[in-house]
Amino acid sequence: MLEQPEATRDDAIIRELHRLEHAQAEHLLKKLGPIKPESRLLDAGSGRGGTSLMAHERFKCQVDGVSISEYQVGFANEQAAKRGYTDKLKYHFRNMLDTGFETGSIDAIWTNETTMYVDLYKLYGEFSRLLKDGGRYVCITGCYNDITGATPSTSATSTRAASTSRRWRPTTSSRSRSPT
Ligand SMILES: C[S@@+](CC[C@H](N)C(=O)[O-])C[C@H]1O[C@@H](n2cnc3c(N)ncnc32)[C@H](O)[C@@H]1O
Repeated sequence: MLEQPEATRDDAIIRELHRLEHAQAEHLLKKLGPIKPESRLLDAGSGRGGTSLMAHERFKCQVDGVSISEYQVGFANEQAAKRGYTDKLKYHFRNMLDTGFETGSIDAIWTNETTMYVDLYKLYGEFSRLLKDGGRYVCITGCYNDITGATPSTSATSTRAASTSRRWRPTTSSRSRSPT
């Protein structure tokens, strides 16, 4: 691709990046497990909303995206409206650490390139609260930084800057709560 003539190289690179991002989203959606039209999904840190849109089209279920960018939320809701999806596809200007959604109301949650912005203990506390018994969490392109994501023992000894971020490989997990 880099050997293409200069006039067409940028377009080719952008097309390839879109192809890769789309393939990544497809992979993520497959890992959500069996999702039914009556399921409810949460896209935590939903960006401009593309993956939520793909999820809604694929599963026909309710999808809620949350982002702290008001612009992104407005853009994504416009895209949902253009396609006539607003009954089940909604984007919210909210903090994923404190979503305000009902406890035990979500079947599956995903994060993509989002975990590095927040305190992971708070994040997974909120996800644990939101997920139904046996609910599923998928993290693809997960990152943390040394202040918000390190374990107590490493944060005490770490001298790295807060902006340092780390990546780990895509992974999936499911949780189940003991009956109370
Ligand atoms: C790098 S973008 C990734 C967007 C999307 N997940 C994707 O894969 O295209 C990071 C997203 O996380 C959102 N974000 C960061 N901190 C957040 C928070 N505390 N609550 C909700 N969204 C947050 C940003 O607004 C942005 O939408």
